[in-house]
Amino acid sequence: MELKNPSHQRQEENSMGSERSVIRKHPCFLFRKLGFIMSVFLCGMMFHPAVGYDPLDPTGNITFKWDVISWTPDGYVAVVTMNNFQMYRHIMNPGWTLGWTWAKKEVIWSMVGAQTTEQGDCSKFKGNIPHCCKKTPTVVDLLPGVPYNQQIANCCKGGVVSSWGQDPAGSVSSFQVSVGLAGTSNKTVKLPKNFTLLGPGPGYTCGPAKIVPSTTFLTPDKRRKTQALMTWNVTCTYSQFLASKNPPCCVSFSSFYNTTITPCPKCACGCRNKNCIKSDSKLLTAAGINTPRKDNAPLLQCTHHMCPIRVHWHVKLNYKDYWRAKVAITNFNYRLNYTQWTLVIQHPNLNNVTQLFSFDYKPLVSYGSINDTGMFYGMKYYNDLLMEAGPLGNVQSEVLFQKEQDTFTLKQGWAFPRKVYFNGDECAMPPPDSYPHLPNSAHVSVPVMLKTFATSVLLLMVMVLA
Ligand SMILES: *[C@@H]1O[C@H](CO)[C@@H](O)[C@H](O)[C@H]1NC(C)=O
Ligand SMILES: *[C@@H]1O[C@H](CO)[C@@H](O)[C@H](O)[C@H]1NC(C)=O
Ligand SMILES: *[C@@H]1O[C@H](CO)[C@@H](O)[C@H](O)[C@H]1NC(C)=O
Ligand SMILES: *[C@@H]1O[C@H](CO)[C@@H](O)[C@H](O)[C@H]1NC(C)=O
Ligand SMILES: *[C@@H]1O[C@H](CO)[C@@H](O)[C@H](O)[C@H]1NC(C)=O
Ligand SMILES: *[C@@H]1O[C@H](CO)[C@@H](O)[C@H](O)[C@H]1NC(C)=O
Ligand SMILES: *[C@@H]1O[C@H](CO)[C@@H](O)[C@H](O)[C@H]1NC(C)=O
Repeated sequence: MELKNPSHQRQEENSMGSERSVIRKHPCFLFRKLGFIMSVFLCGMMFHPAVGYDPLDPTGNITFKWDVISWTPDGYVAVVTMNNFQMYRHIMNPGWTLGWTWAKKEVIWSMVGAQTTEQGDCSKFKGNIPHCCKKTPTVVDLLPGVPYNQQIANCCKGGVVSSWGQDPAGSVSSFQVSVGLAGTSNKTVKLPKNFTLLGPGPGYTCGPAKIVPSTTFLTPDKRRKTQALMTWNVTCTYSQFLASKNPPCCVSFSSFYNTTITPCPKCACGCRNKNCIKSDSKLLTAAGINTPRKDNAPLLQCTHHMCPIRVHWHVKLNYKDYWRAKVAITNFNYRLNYTQWTLVIQHPNLNNVTQLFSFDYKPLVSYGSINDTGMFYGMKYYNDLLMEAGPLGNVQSEVLFQKEQDTFTLKQGWAFPRKVYFNGDECAMPPPDSYPHLPNSAHVSVPVMLKTFATSVLLLMVMVLA
């Protein structure tokens, strides 16, 4: 398993130089001018899942469940469990940050397995001082390695939560909170409001808390069931459109039958207000250059696409009954290691993956629709860490597909993915007419459907703007 940059990828890492002034906006930007409804509609269709709905993961969400396990003289003790039900979107470093607004004058007496970032003004308390008196507490997970008596099950992972598809057991995070100056029965307790999932970054929207049937728990010997005194749920969904106006990754293509490399679109991830550093800069040898920033600001290697992540798909070999593609992910951020990265690819042949080298794979089965989407992720302790930009900042694999003889073709860009998602965000694709052509197929080499679609969208834009 080589861990080098394939040489055919190298030529696109040219610096931005004089291209800096040529800024091609993300197409959604254009649509914004057409009014909000229309832009949400069009961009949701073309580039992003519409708000809170991802067609490749229709039931994906993050649910917080509050189980009241005891009433206290002035409130209650609840265990809060976060379940990440998203198939391929995990919560990476620096972990989740949860906020809410108390309905009344509640305070947090204590927490186990998490803490609030600020205590707030507790000056009216004498003797016992609460853990937090803020009206809008902000809670973060504890780091691994806290003393045993400050832990509960599934806590203390630095807020890092796996995706459901990659590791269901790791997709849970919990903490316990003891609330005072609150209701002390299921009639008087007021549910917290305005839940916000501030970390891992923007993009999540949470619904209101809803009372649901009380959770039942099995005792460790499995012979007795106990029950929460009261349970409420909060559901948060992700929208890439809300997270950022630019995609966070881009896709490039190459093939064995054409020496042209189809690069990522220029400024695919936005060039405006972005600094970068050339890969041969002397600054890169300075101490601390790779240290992550508190605000997670990236330090990007200069490329013409200015994306922190590029996914490259190379059509490598064509056998009689099989064909083979190579997929490589390259990190261009000097300040970020991607832990537990995921890659989702949509391609009609993904229903027939025969063999995969050095990545794990899981088909994303959608009931009723075509099962043409799969999720790739790194093997634990081998390549599940995508290292910071530099010589080690890439992972790669090869996929062997069994041909369905009547659909397989090298023409019209068929062998290239339809959609690519990195860590749950859709990546910018090259324009359809730039895909590597088969020799002698000059005029039909564009995926016809895509071209027609692009044309009609253009027409629509012209009509509306006129
Ligand atoms: C509440 O959340 C739990 C998991 O946290 C989930 O299993 C359950 O289905 C949810 N209930 C409702 C009614 O949404
Ligand atoms: C509140 O508790 C009573 C019994 O103590 C129960 O009958 C009722 O269903 C509970 N209500 C809710 C919303 O859990
Ligand atoms: C909800 O919380 C967010 C973030 O803490 C805050 O900006 C916003 O003002 C709050 N909204 C309400 C209605 O409290
Ligand atoms: C990435 O991980 C490696 C090995 O664990 C570490 O040496 C390096 O400092 C990390 N880089 C960043 C940017 O966190
Ligand atoms: C996709 O897979 C699911 C589960 O195996 C199945 O129910 C569904 O019919 C499949 N869809 C197609 C179009 O094959
Ligand atoms: C894989 O391809 C073979 C040959 O065309 C076909 O018989 C089989 O049904 C395919 N498998 C799936 C899961 O589509
Ligand atoms: C290779 O693909 C490019 C881009 O689609 C195309 O312009 C070129 O003509 C193709 N080369 C050959 C030899 O067909």
